[in-house]
Amino acid sequence: LNLDIDRLVHPAEPPITDKLYSGFLEHLGRCIYGGIVDSPKTPSPAKLLVKQDKSGPLYKGRLGWRKDVMSCLSKDGELEIPMMRWPGGNFVSNYHWQDGIGPVSQRPKRIELAWLSDESNIFGTDEFIDYCRAIGSEPYICLNMGTGTLEEALSWLEYCNGTGDTHWAELRRKHTGRKEPHNVKYWGLGNEMWGPWQVGNLLPSEYARKARQWAHALKLVDPSICLVSCGETGASEWDREVIQALLPWADMHSIHFYTMLGHDKMSSVPGLDYEKNVFGAVAAEKHIEVCKSLIDMANIGRTIERMPARDMKICFDEWNVWDDVKAAGSNGLEQVYDYTDMLGFCAWLNVLVRKHKDIGIACLAQSVNVISPLMTRPDGILRQTLYYPLELFSKYMKHGHLLQLPSFPDVYTGPTYPVYIQQAGYNPSYIDSVAVSVKTPEGFSIRVSVLNRHPTADWVTNIAFSGFDLKSVRIHEIYHDDLIAKNTFEDPYNVKPVSTSLSKEGWETEYANGFTVKKHSWAF
Ligand code: AHR
Repeated sequence: LNLDIDRLVHPAEPPITDKLYSGFLEHLGRCIYGGIVDSPKTPSPAKLLVKQDKSGPLYKGRLGWRKDVMSCLSKDGELEIPMMRWPGGNFVSNYHWQDGIGPVSQRPKRIELAWLSDESNIFGTDEFIDYCRAIGSEPYICLNMGTGTLEEALSWLEYCNGTGDTHWAELRRKHTGRKEPHNVKYWGLGNEMWGPWQVGNLLPSEYARKARQWAHALKLVDPSICLVSCGETGASEWDREVIQALLPWADMHSIHFYTMLGHDKMSSVPGLDYEKNVFGAVAAEKHIEVCKSLIDMANIGRTIERMPARDMKICFDEWNVWDDVKAAGSNGLEQVYDYTDMLGFCAWLNVLVRKHKDIGIACLAQSVNVISPLMTRPDGILRQTLYYPLELFSKYMKHGHLLQLPSFPDVYTGPTYPVYIQQAGYNPSYIDSVAVSVKTPEGFSIRVSVLNRHPTADWVTNIAFSGFDLKSVRIHEIYHDDLIAKNTFEDPYNVKPVSTSLSKEGWETEYANGFTVKKHSWAF
């Protein structure tokens, strides 16, 4: 790996956005109630108010927020989450935002149809905004295009951003006691409206027409908002049709993809759980490329019609490793992540950084308890295996520029998930790496993520810093012999990075014969 100083200046390329490490909170299982709010899963608003009466109304930011979770998610905390998507996910498609504002005791408890549970509505729009402000995250709200109406969407936007003396803006002032608007810039035009499980799902042509009407009206209420169209994986007929129709209206196009390890397995090829996991993110990379091409195609159409091209970025607002059999709706999608999941997750992070030019936002689904690196119990939190790579990426792989690395010839040629990736001739290399240079007051800081996906072979590399006056090196390595090792509340640090700091001399002496990235391991 030759990290050449001459490659460090990329004037034409945008820096890597911190929004690659955004989060997602859905009213699902113990994400909000138990993860964000320190209260039972489906509390009754009336009962809670009795408890909270003395300290004041819940909606004024006095909900019992879990401080331990906040310090993990916070901008000054471990994960530094810059943006938070809410309230769903599938949940949003039958969520009526007006149920979640005003005096808590008067908020209705409703059945919700995505996960077939009850929603207390004690955490609503004002609580979400307060939470975002408290952790230093930018709010991103997804609109209900299932059972919701355009009128509800317009009033939600006015409630959040209105500055006049109109009804919804005044109501917000009354509820929050503050003059200033919530200023929510990012709005999603529905969630997975293509999915048969989605309440109110639509055909692509129906969605395109409806979303265009909504976008037009929403931008009349607030032209400064950034609208996100609802996509599928990025590489589908739905995406093609929606991008084509919404390019003039939407500012970003959302895609979702999980490396599904449960139902969607390569059932014809048994015993490939390791490969399916560590090479799973290859499909996401392909989807990003296809989606970008669909945007380019739509822009070519516009320029032929003598209209200016639009810089529509991808909003990858749900991604993760997910075993949908182990982490099903019945257990609130709570997944115990193991060591191999962590390797698959590192491959995901590498993909996001490598493709950063086309991605404006990426939201890990989800931020606590639900398919999440972070789990809670009433008495504490657990950082799962995925937590540490996420922390290192979100701290160090941003605001810098991508360096070009050579491709590694030793490729995996076996089956991948989904199978069409391999059939399309996409063979991932065992070594997967990205490198970023960040300008610092002292010079440059180079950050390198190297994932060795080979199940049995170590990889020895010479990392050469050509042209550098090297000052120091810091290494974080995660390795475990046991591919299914986990962190548990009883053994919380079973899988975690081992960190080493070296001077220039220390580095040159210790690694004179090369740096070894062990079989199935990750080094940063
Ligand atoms: O993140 C869990 C679910 O996965 C979301 O609610 C939905 O959008 C997706 O299918």
